[in-house]
Amino acid sequence: MSGRASASSVRPLVELRDLAKSYSGVAAVQPLDLDVAYGDFCAILGPSGCGKSTLLRMIAGFVEPTGGRIQIDGIDVTGLGPEQRPTNMVFQGYGLFPHLSVAENVGFGLALRKMPRPEIATRVAEALRLVRLDGFGDRTIDRLSGGQQQRVALARALIMRPKVLLLDEPLAALDLKLRHAMQEELRRIHAEIGGTFIFVTHDQTEAFALASRIVVMNEGRIEQVGAPQDIYLDPHSLFVADFVGETNVLSGVRTNGAVHLAAGVDFNAPGAEGAVRAIIRPEAVRQGAGEVTVQARITDVVFLGNALKIVARLPSGETLSARDPDVRRHASYAREATESFSWALADQRILDGAQ
Ligand SMILES: Nc1ncnc2c1ncn2[C@@H]1O[C@H](COP(=O)(O)OP(=O)(O)O)[C@@H](O)[C@H]1O
Ligand SMILES: [Mg+2]
Repeated sequence: MSGRASASSVRPLVELRDLAKSYSGVAAVQPLDLDVAYGDFCAILGPSGCGKSTLLRMIAGFVEPTGGRIQIDGIDVTGLGPEQRPTNMVFQGYGLFPHLSVAENVGFGLALRKMPRPEIATRVAEALRLVRLDGFGDRTIDRLSGGQQQRVALARALIMRPKVLLLDEPLAALDLKLRHAMQEELRRIHAEIGGTFIFVTHDQTEAFALASRIVVMNEGRIEQVGAPQDIYLDPHSLFVADFVGETNVLSGVRTNGAVHLAAGVDFNAPGAEGAVRAIIRPEAVRQGAGEVTVQARITDVVFLGNALKIVARLPSGETLSARDPDVRRHASYAREATESFSWALADQRILDGAQ
């Protein structure tokens, strides 16, 4: 990718090799490999129960792997406890001490390390400034809002200057507006300290809003790793296509290098013979003829505010969903009318197999 020409020659900060965890013989994380580069803002994205927290806790040292190795900054930390690793973790429930002050909470880790008080005070003030809580040092935790508590939890982790900051669904407890504000804060803090963050989320919009790199997980496995735009535009599996945003999935079959979609269209697409799926994002589908054209009966037109969502039925019985950003074209989509819809060859992905 541009600007990273020498990335392959630079050692990653975090290297996971064959890392696995089973509970009583049941795999929570299947043996997996993953590299996280210095300065990355890496999202581990997947549905509930797919092993995200287990993976993060293994990196932090709170969960002992049943197989594999973890290297951080070139050092094998697999056998080390959490406090011996250059990591720090922000937990979903924050884990703050409710009766201690903000400053005592934030300075807790440094006090444990017997850092002199004046130095702790300086570092606490610095950390509180970073999360925009200057002047809140003397308050107790129970007198803070949820968003402010989140910032204290962040400051308490950042003050330890970890090489890797680990965040487990850090914004899940916040309402939507506050969550968006905190997403911007996290981006600012990440840029300001130039650190490496790995965060877990089941929310694809959050992963896209924050991450420079996304790791999509499913059932204890990594499905795909890539930049957000690669994950969105070039999903390698149906699971990824479906999990990150809305998508059209059309079934077809390939013979002699040509794909025939059940929706009633053929095009050249070399590859293995047999069943295929064509994946097309709704925003790539236009009204009218184009490189790949189908006929579809309009069943619904929904005004989304910033776009129209058009739902149509293909001759195969499959549904085709389209987006039109020009909401003034509402009248051009008549319900029950059969119309041509099309997309560019470059905007579709062909996946082999029926799954
Ligand atoms: N301490 C545990 N004991 C037994 N099973 C666990 C434990 N922690 C997690 N699991 C199981 O491992 C799987 C992955 O869990 P988890 O990593 O928490 O998923 P996620 O964070 O993606 O929701 C789940 O099936 C969960 O029930
Ligand atoms: Mg979890």
